[in-house]
Order: sequence, then structure tokens, then C-alpha cells
Amino acid sequence: MSGSHNSRDQGQAGARPGPDIAQTDPAALTEDQASAELARLADLLARANAAYHHDDAPEISDADYDALKRRNAAVEARFPALKRPDSPSDQIGAAPAEGFGKVRHAQRMLSLSNAFEDSDIVEFDARIRRYLNLAPLDPLPFTAEPKIDGLSLSLLYEGGELTRAATRGDGETGENVTANARTIADIPPRLEGAPDRLEVRGEVYMSHADFAALNIRQAEAGAKTFANPRNAAAGSLRQLDSAITRSRPLKFFAYAWGVTSAPLAETQIGAIERLAAFGFQVNPLTRLCDGPEEMLDQYRRIEDQRATLGYDIDGVVYKVNRLDLQERLGFRATTPRWAIAHKFAAELAWTRLEAIDIQVGRTGALSPVARLHPVTVGGVVVSNATLHNEDYIAGRDSRGEVIRGGKDIRVGDWAQVYRAGDVIPKIADIDLSRRPEEAVPFSFPTTCPECGSDAVREPGDAIRRCAGGLICPAQAVEKLKHFVSRGAFDIEGLGARQVEQFYRDGWIAEPADIFTLQTRYGSGMQQVKNREGWGEKSADNLFAAIEEKRDIPLRRLIFALGLRHVGEVVSADLARHYRSWAALLEAVDQAAPAALRHRAADAAEEAERATAQSEGRRARIKPVRDAIWAEAPDIPPAARAAWEDLVGIDGIGATVAASLTASFAQSSERASIDALAAQLRIAQEAGPQDSDSPVAGKTVVFTGKLEKMTRDEAKARAESLGAKVSGSVSAKTDILVAGPGAGAKAKKAADLGVTTMDEDSWLALIGAGPAG
Ligand code: IVH
Repeated sequence: MSGSHNSRDQGQAGARPGPDIAQTDPAALTEDQASAELARLADLLARANAAYHHDDAPEISDADYDALKRRNAAVEARFPALKRPDSPSDQIGAAPAEGFGKVRHAQRMLSLSNAFEDSDIVEFDARIRRYLNLAPLDPLPFTAEPKIDGLSLSLLYEGGELTRAATRGDGETGENVTANARTIADIPPRLEGAPDRLEVRGEVYMSHADFAALNIRQAEAGAKTFANPRNAAAGSLRQLDSAITRSRPLKFFAYAWGVTSAPLAETQIGAIERLAAFGFQVNPLTRLCDGPEEMLDQYRRIEDQRATLGYDIDGVVYKVNRLDLQERLGFRATTPRWAIAHKFAAELAWTRLEAIDIQVGRTGALSPVARLHPVTVGGVVVSNATLHNEDYIAGRDSRGEVIRGGKDIRVGDWAQVYRAGDVIPKIADIDLSRRPEEAVPFSFPTTCPECGSDAVREPGDAIRRCAGGLICPAQAVEKLKHFVSRGAFDIEGLGARQVEQFYRDGWIAEPADIFTLQTRYGSGMQQVKNREGWGEKSADNLFAAIEEKRDIPLRRLIFALGLRHVGEVVSADLARHYRSWAALLEAVDQAAPAALRHRAADAAEEAERATAQSEGRRARIKPVRDAIWAEAPDIPPAARAAWEDLVGIDGIGATVAASLTASFAQSSERASIDALAAQLRIAQEAGPQDSDSPVAGKTVVFTGKLEKMTRDEAKARAESLGAKVSGSVSAKTDILVAGPGAGAKAKKAADLGVTTMDEDSWLALIGAGPAG
């Protein structure tokens, strides 16, 4: 298959015993050595599985994983009596994290958006000012504090008692680790004077000293060692036996909260002080700053102390201090607008580039990956780096501008690799003075390395794509992997590795097959039960997990289809707008003929630009586009209306709309989608009835200048009350909110008889006091 389970970095701390045995031919091992070697391999493979499935640790590449498995099988073949009861040969994938109950977070646990440059912080402040409509001199203080490199934990206190602790999980659902949290000294079992219901959030971490001592103890006991303190903390917290967690020196910093029955304070810093008063550890480097300059000063102070803190931090987090402003700013899909993480600079290392492989993704994109001689970058062994696309390899960015001083990347080159945070390693530079004489420019394939179909690069696209669609095994498998991934169907026990195996064995070729697996392998389910690694229980569990996911929220289904340009945010936008699968299908099908016209208009626009340039005149875009639409009497007005409604959804432009209509119109892709939908019960998107606001379910358009709040804020508020915000007025518009200077939209609304109101009436309608 396309080769890699995401090719993340490698970390192989604690490979025991020494390399001598690890390198010895299985036939030459003594019995004792073989037994030690089988233990080592079982440990490494279990760790790789856990890393792959539960994300606690760095991973190893597929090739290395397979090599370890082969070696294990070879040693077992030579010494059958030594085969372990937990032999990796008998397992596929990892057992799902069984044992912990699931906890649905009352408030999603979000992540932070990242900043890397000082200028990003200046822009962060400016962005918030724009959103809140603050003048440059209005005070806007922020807190600055270290970003702890551990794992986040939610602690629920009811009546002052700790009643539940949960990991972040996917942000919506985490694992119940209450018994383990109770063993951590920094976590008070009860709070004095706290709100009746209070969810405290913070980071579990391990100090450098405790980490080193733990690894020594582990090694002495012949148990697994950890690659870094964060993995050690995660592994220790997620122990099924809380006695083990108790023996691990975990620590906790509180820095945030979720649900509260009464406000903690009026400011972030005030809330942190209260958490400290309840007995939590709060980070002593937390400071209140009055703007970007002080924030950056604090960033440098923290960075200077980084090496001597005694625990890992990977940046500085800034948060708007006033909680009323935090509330107004609210959230984007997965990150708050009122906070940002300013990461420390990436770590760098030089190494040799040994090969360039091409991976084929679920949308057919050919992605080049650099295979590197393993090198340690910031404590993690790196052996792969992304190379993005053919232009990047050649030394140009997506706009054709020169990067790396125009140096291309060749097999055999010395490359400088960097990692920033958890991102996939990248190549920063190439050392031309060490380039081998025989190194030749990389020639990018024009056919798919997986299925041989043409690999085509469309004008304006940096990516070359395999045209094979679902006949390309790599695309089919990557689509399936995406389908079962976290934000999509997230079927317990059916991870990427299992999907790959089922695909290889011809059991599932497309998503619908997952839901017919049990019927097809039928009566006795013997086939699944009998296959390697699948005991009676795991097969039953798998089928139960699949059954559970027949009920699926609309937004997850849309996202799971893995269509180009349709990520989680767009999927949620579409689901909110159309609410039901049937409505979405109908609308997209209806819009399809207009999409073709849209593409024709794009082509005409491009031609007009080229002609205009060669003739040295200004391009006449609008008349050219209008002419294309006008000369298409074959397009029913309903199609154009459906298209305009689709591209009118805020956050959805012509690119997304074209991708949607094209995928739904392509016959084999559509057949696969319909077959899937037939297997499911698709839950309508929660909508108007869930909000009792008078604007719930209404389609609202804002136009003209808003004076009490910015456009972004108005939109976010309207949506939080269940309204749909659209960019254009149509017969479907319920309310036009028109500020001063409203023009064409107000006129169109009047023509269509759409209710029009000013900003104050709107605020009164939604029951908001004038903001600001
Ligand atoms: S605030 C709404 N403060 O970073 C976001 N997070 O990348 C609330 N983290 O999941 C998080 N130190 O696990 C916050 N001082 C700090 C933090 C911190 C570490 C982690 C946290 C979060 C992740 C986001």
C-alpha cells in the first residue's frame, strides 16, 4: 500500500538488550538470547502499536514495523518453545484502550492555535482589537504563561469533592481516569470555598529528574522505558492499575476551567489566583502584560529559563485577561479566539537524505517524502521529512518564487531538518558543498507509483494527482483510513492497520463494506474470529462497535467522505446549513449543472486575462463571466439558485462547492456514497429547535457598516443562536441587518420583501445589550 502510517518520527528509546543481539541472525542466537530478543521485540511492537493507536508516543515507520514483525516470526520459527503468550505474531493492531470508561466533556476541550514569530503576536493583538472594535489605545491586557509539554486533564468537583477526572481524548470524549488522578499529590481531593460545580483543567507532566529516575527503574526492572517526559506522563496516567500510577511521580499545573456553577473571577489572572487559593499548583511564571511588547518580553524571560525549569515547556500561552472579552471572542472550530500558543523556535539537525519516496493520499495527491539517515532533533529520532510537492523539491514555492536560495533537493544531499512542535519534520536547507558529484535532480513521476494511472497536474495546482480514483489501491485504502479516523466514524477496534489488512484481504473495498462485513462473513462469523489475531471477543467487539456507528451525525458523515477541500469545519458548515442528508444531496445535485458553468466561466476568465495581458489592456472579467452564464439557457434557474445558495454559505466558496458537486456527480464515487448512506441512520444536524432564540433557524445577512460589533462577532453570535449567516440576499433570506451605507443588498431585500432591520433592532431581537 502507500506505505506509511503517516510516517511520523521515530523514537526507539529503551531498545534492550544491546545492538549485538538485535543484529544477530536468528539462527545464531542461543536460547537465552532468543528469549531476551523475543521480549524486546514484543515490547517494541506493543509500543509501536500503542503509539499508532493511542498517540502517546512517537511511532516507527511501516517498514521498520514490518521488519520487527518479520524478525519476531523468524526467531519464533527457530525456537517455537519460546513463543510468548503475548506474541506479536498473534496480534493485529493494538487492543483499543479498553478498561477506561468514556467521559463526554460538558464543554469541549480545545486546542490552541500556534504562533512562531513575534509579528504573529502583534497580529494576534490587532486581530482581537479588530474583532472587538477596540481603538489602538484602548487597554487590552493579556496573561503570559509557559506552555507545559504534558497532557491535559479535566477535573470535575461537585460540592467541593473531586468526582471525576478525564483525559482530553478527541476533545469531545475522553477517558475516565478518576482513580489515577486521585493518586497525584498536586490534585486536591476536595476544595474549600469553590463553586458547587467546578471543572478545573490543566496539564499533567513529569519533571526531568523524575523522568530520568523512572527510566532507570524501568530499565533495571526489565520494563519499557519512555522516549521523553511527556510520553512517560501519558503512559503513567493511562494505567489500568492505579497502583502503578501512584508509583509514578506525576505533577499537575492548573491553568483553565470548563463548566462552573458560578464565575471564578472577572479576569484570567483572578481566576488563576482562585485556583491557587483552592490548593492547585499554578505556574509561577504567569504574568499580566499590557500588550505585545510586554508579552514578548515575558516570552524571552521564559525562554531564557527554559533549560533550568526542570520540566518541558514548548512555548508561551497568551490569554485575553478580561473574561467578559473572552466570552465575546468565543471560539473557532477547535481553538479559542482569545488565546494563542507562541512556540519556541524549531530544533535543527543535519543529516543525509537517502531516498525520496512518493506516497499517494486519499484524494490521489502524490506526496514526496524524504527518507533520512536517522538523526535526533530535539530529543526525537527523525527519519522522514515532508517534501510537499515537486516545486518544493525544485526550490520554488506555490507561487513560483524561489525558496532555499533556489537550491533543489537531491537524493544523497546533506539536509538540515527541523521540527516545530508536533509537526512533521521539514527540510530547512541543503548543503551544496557536500553534494555528491553523482547526485542528479529529482525527476518527479508522471504516473502513479501505486496503480500506474496518469498522475496529472491541473493548471494552478501545485499537486500532481493520480487519476485512478478508487481503482487506485492507495487512494482506496487512504479513503478507508480517513473514514475510520477520529473526526470521522472513529470505529473502536478498526484503526488504520486493521483497515489496511481487511482491504488487502479483499474483505472491504469501500466504506459501505464495513457495515456489511458481519452479514457477508455471516452466520458463524467464523472467518473473522478465526483469522490471525482476532479472538472471539475482539470480533464481537468489532461488530458491536460498527453497529454503534450506524447512527452517525450528519457533519461526521460529510467529513468522513474525505472529499477534497471538505474538512471538519466545512463539513460542520454544510451540516448546519442543510441539516439533513436528503437536503444536502438534493441541493448539491441540483447545483451540479451550474458548477460546470462556473468552471467554464473560470476558463473564460483565465483566457481573458491572458489575452488582455498580451494586448496590454485591462481584463474585462465581469462581462466575460456574465456572458458565459447568459449563454447557458440549458441551466435551469433552480440550478443556479442552488449553486448560489451553496456558495452563499459563509465559509464555503466556489472551490469547495465545485469539489462537492464534482464528487457527487462522478458515477463510481456516487455509487459508493449511496451504498454507504443506505447502511446508515444519519442524524439531522441539531438546529433551531435546540435554541429558543427567535432567530434560530433563520437565514440572516449582514450588510453595511455595523457599529456595535464587528461583522465577525455579529456572525459568530448569530450562529451561536442557531441562525444561518449567508453572504448574499436571496428568496431564502429571512432577515437583512443593514447598517449605514447598505446598498445593493438592501435594495434586493426590499424587492424580495425580506425583513430588514438596523443593528439596534437586531440586538434587541437577539436579546443582547449593545456590546462594547
Ligand atoms: S490553555 C482553550 N494553557 O496545550 C485552550 N493550554 O495546544 C485551553 N497547554 O490542550 C488551554 N500549557 O493541553 C493552556 N498554560 C497553558 C497550557 C496549555 C499546555 C496544552 C493543553 C492544550 C494544548 C493546546
